[in-house]
Amino acid sequence: MKWNYPLSRRSFLLAGTGAAIAASMRPWPTRAEGQNEVRLTAAPAQALLIAPDRPETAVWAYNGTVPGPVLRLRQGEPSRLLVENRLDEETTVHWHGIRLPNGMDGVPGLTQPPIRPGETFAYEFAPPDAGTFWYHPHADGLVQLGRGLAGPLIVEEREPVAVDRDVLWFLSDWRLTRDGKIAGGFGNMMDAGMSGRVGNMVTLNGRVSDAEPVRAGERIRLRLVNGALARMMALGFEGHRPVIIAIDGQPCEPQEAVGGRLLLGPAMRIDVVLDMQGEPGRRYAVTDDFYDGLAYTLTQLRYSQEPPLRAHPADAPIALPPNPLPEPDLTSAERHELTLQGGMMGGGMMKGMGGMDGMAMPGMNGGAVWAINGMSMTGDGDAHMEPALTFKRGQSVVLTLSNQTAWWHPMHVHGHSFRVLSRNGESVPHRQWQDTVLMQPKDTVEVAFVADNPGDWMLHCHVADHQMSGLMTVFRVA
Ligand code: C2O
Ligand code: CU
Ligand code: CU
Repeated sequence: MKWNYPLSRRSFLLAGTGAAIAASMRPWPTRAEGQNEVRLTAAPAQALLIAPDRPETAVWAYNGTVPGPVLRLRQGEPSRLLVENRLDEETTVHWHGIRLPNGMDGVPGLTQPPIRPGETFAYEFAPPDAGTFWYHPHADGLVQLGRGLAGPLIVEEREPVAVDRDVLWFLSDWRLTRDGKIAGGFGNMMDAGMSGRVGNMVTLNGRVSDAEPVRAGERIRLRLVNGALARMMALGFEGHRPVIIAIDGQPCEPQEAVGGRLLLGPAMRIDVVLDMQGEPGRRYAVTDDFYDGLAYTLTQLRYSQEPPLRAHPADAPIALPPNPLPEPDLTSAERHELTLQGGMMGGGMMKGMGGMDGMAMPGMNGGAVWAINGMSMTGDGDAHMEPALTFKRGQSVVLTLSNQTAWWHPMHVHGHSFRVLSRNGESVPHRQWQDTVLMQPKDTVEVAFVADNPGDWMLHCHVADHQMSGLMTVFRVA
């Protein structure tokens, strides 16, 4: 299956990076020490994104690396994360997908004052759910994430699945100039009203990857994080059958991907178990063909010459233990509809937005291109808005998200995970828990959760340009 996607054809650097690059797979220990205290410093840095003979790229980074360090917390254990701001603008850190106290959610102006240059803020929480999460700024997010500020966060299960290796691929998308600089022009109207700032180079753990070494017969838990600003991904593994065991950190019924492709909107995570059933010495392509005509090879699985690790495929159980999520009561649930509106239609002006029709498009700063139920909250949390919805603490909620636009949107809810109940009227098998649901143009999706976490929470599209230009709202749990 292919998705047709109106995307401006820009020169695609990926096509030109065929030179063999020896990127080494970074092994992530299965049972590393949990970290109860972590220090992150956000500051400008230099990164080697492509190859040793290419120029370095000026980025903004946590602790000097892109992505930032892998944080490993233990489920239920109180943790302290100190964030120091050595940028010359305000920042915050949002711990994406973690159900934590509102004051730790990292949304400036809504849950905390921004961290000013030179300041340090202490985030403290005990992550209730095990799984694959990530962290990123929630202040000037389009620019800060686009310049490299993001990193993986793993909350370890008390009983992890038995695998030979636990591997993380943190995927980032960069829009680079020919000389390897991050292209300017963040927040232009073409990006904002269409696909968002889709880049021209995808890195795996901070490098363009030629191949990742594997061994025949081994079983890998592969944690995939789409840390891109705007790029959707559809990953296929030539000759292999990844089995999904978690989505957005939340365990699921082990299942093969529909059509063998793993669909990851920005901010989404998928954990798979991969049995290395290929031949020693061979290479197998891992491709991303989400955008029609812009498919590329993300990397290759490069089998060593070693004989298979085991004679028969591993057959240990791979289901993860469930997380302690509150089950929504659908019979008593409050129901609300949120309609996503705006964006460009067939290259023209958006229609149907209060006060926007026919207007010249304003600049991105405060400019609205999108709306939810006719209201546009812009910026990155700093533009104040009264909550669109208020729920009594403990109330079960069903939200019907209806995408009335011509564009894809990964819709994300803070402070809660939700069950995906149905898509376009068809019930979703197993009603998967997620924190971000990817919506195709014209999709209607029903999600349900218990509003059990007090505070004001964001609900927004995770395509950064869409979020900044109006595809965002706030709900209150009181
Ligand atoms: Cu990754 Cu407001 O979210
Ligand atoms: Cu979030
Ligand atoms: Cu969007």
